[in-house]
Amino acid sequence: MSSAMRRLVGSALKNASSSSFKTNVMPRRFYSSGGSPPPRKVVVLGAAGGIGQPLALLMKLNPLVSKLALYDIAGTPGVAADVGHINSRAEVAGYMGEEQLGTALENANVVIIPAGVPRKPGMTRDDLFNINAGIVKSLCSAIAKYCPEAIVNMISNPVNSTVPIAAEVFKKAGTYNEKKLFGVTTLDVVRAKTFYASKAGVPVEEVDVPVVGGHAGVTILPLFSQATPKPNSVLSEEDIKALTKRTQDGGTEVVEAKAGKGSATLSMAYAGAVFASSVLKGLNGEPNIVECSYVQSNVTELPFFASKVRLGEKGVEEVLGLGFLSEYEKQGLEGLKSELKSSIEKGIKSASEN
Ligand SMILES: NC(=O)c1ccc[n+]([C@@H]2O[C@H](COP(=O)([O-])OP(=O)(O)OC[C@H]3O[C@@H](n4cnc5c(N)ncnc54)[C@H](O)[C@@H]3O)[C@@H](O)[C@H]2O)c1
Repeated sequence: MSSAMRRLVGSALKNASSSSFKTNVMPRRFYSSGGSPPPRKVVVLGAAGGIGQPLALLMKLNPLVSKLALYDIAGTPGVAADVGHINSRAEVAGYMGEEQLGTALENANVVIIPAGVPRKPGMTRDDLFNINAGIVKSLCSAIAKYCPEAIVNMISNPVNSTVPIAAEVFKKAGTYNEKKLFGVTTLDVVRAKTFYASKAGVPVEEVDVPVVGGHAGVTILPLFSQATPKPNSVLSEEDIKALTKRTQDGGTEVVEAKAGKGSATLSMAYAGAVFASSVLKGLNGEPNIVECSYVQSNVTELPFFASKVRLGEKGVEEVLGLGFLSEYEKQGLEGLKSELKSSIEKGIKSASEN
């Protein structure tokens, strides 16, 4: 990749955060003293997969990463050798098989989990749930043992349940810190921004749209009433409904277009890299870093909920409220609660079994 291309990718990631394109403030700690970014180790679990590989590439390009550990049950030496030749700060190491998981995780600051199986034709939601729940449980047990202080970014689906599963595993191990567990819902925000920009006729780089609730179907609630910049001509109720539905069905749009060859990987890797970059900025003390994420929450009566979150040196600095909601959004909020509640309960129940 040419240096021009590298700058382009770097600046796209930098600008993508809903907060950073507005504030563009350098991290307090090291930029104010003119120093270089502090050392940060990022681990990707599931690094040889459809999401894991492009995510490894994007994290290697992130100047805030000093060590990048790539773990999978197979294929990581090749991915690590390949990504490791790129000219950027992060030292890359590949780890394969359970016996190397502990070393991969040691001293991690951020662990990103895209391990698991994606939705495939013929697979029921329960099949997907059972396989991924088992994978998430075993990986989170290892995190509790080898890097209990790390921030965990959960990508493995169903996020509405895998985050409560992770919380239960950490509680059992005595390491749970609700400020350090995030469900990555950034892809919903990425999609909402793209669809809104196109309909509203505004530049996508300037768009901000909060997406709240959860991370599946109707639990995904984009708040287009809060979208900025405002459209050139007012969007009709029908337009808003169509944008909402397209955001909720974004994953299916990709699954169908890929015709049985997997689900979203490239846009998910981009979204995962944007979110991880914001987490790292928060850790480094950069102020006003805000992203939507699915976290332990008091915003509604549900114990986990996605909303805007201010990121800081300890992970979650503040879970922000919902703000103004239109009548349509209020209905969407009430309508999503029962499904989200049962997904949370399913995760908690699954974690308590064996
Ligand atoms: N959060 C989101 O927005 C979002 C979007 C798309 C996909 N996903 C989810 O991300 C996950 C991965 O999707 P993908 O398309 O990359 O799948 P994939 O099958 O291409 O890759 C998954 C990788 O996980 C690895 N893996 C399996 N068990 C493991 C274990 N115990 N430890 C470490 N690695 C293990 C596999 O070897 C594989 O390399 C799926 O659960 C998918 O549903 C989430």
